[in-house]
Amino acid sequence: MFINVKFAPSMVGSDHDLKQSSVVVIDTLRATSTIIAALMAGAREVIAAATIEEAVAISHRLGTERTLLGGERGGVRIKGFHLGNSPGEYTPEVVHGKTIILTTSNGSGALLKARQAAQTLCGALLNASAVARHLAAGGARDVLLLCSGSGGNVSLEDSLAAGAILAELLAVQDSGSVTISDGARIALWLFNECRNDLPAALRASEHGRALMELGFTDDLDYCARLDIPDAPVPAFAGSSIKVQQSGPAGPTVARFV
Ligand code: MLT
Repeated sequence: MFINVKFAPSMVGSDHDLKQSSVVVIDTLRATSTIIAALMAGAREVIAAATIEEAVAISHRLGTERTLLGGERGGVRIKGFHLGNSPGEYTPEVVHGKTIILTTSNGSGALLKARQAAQTLCGALLNASAVARHLAAGGARDVLLLCSGSGGNVSLEDSLAAGAILAELLAVQDSGSVTISDGARIALWLFNECRNDLPAALRASEHGRALMELGFTDDLDYCARLDIPDAPVPAFAGSSIKVQQSGPAGPTVARFV
């Protein structure tokens, strides 16, 4: 297994890089954490949209009674949308049985770009070990941990989650069978440096500080949790993305177009 980490989608050179790889898209603060929360709360599916207009059009096409619009621009809920990008908003009372159409500043674009991959998963600190075990069990050979970053720049929180997934991958794989890139080693060393206080690391991050200024401190605490019980592993394939539980049953709970 070869494991690489790219710290922003712009570091992915071509579709060829993706097509050969199992890709884990990471947007710790907050898109992939929110997707995990929505699915755990019983959302029927999640659809990623690149733009606000596209999200609204998908909602009208599928029927406004069965869909909820979620996402943010500048960190705050989009005008007219039902939900923002705080994972705590995605409760069973609100989202159970619903199709969530999600558009965010960086995460949804990274998700849509990565759907070219042989296999695409959603990763965060919340499901880091579940993602790693899913990759190992599936015999993935080329693994790309793709950080959404922020505005094309590296982000501390996504790099940390990449390091967390990598640490678990190294724990479950035979060490002789794994090669890692320098990017992966940077993420791993960063995670090892911060793993004893992930909430503090998220609070120190640029985006974490911006979210706290907007009043979203609870989101940081939510997203800083490593390996919550029964975290799902969202998995993408072709033009539709299905989310599977990490266990054997693997019910379809999400879709991206
Ligand atoms: C993004 O996609 O850039 C993030 O999820 C932004 C946010 O924290 O809402």
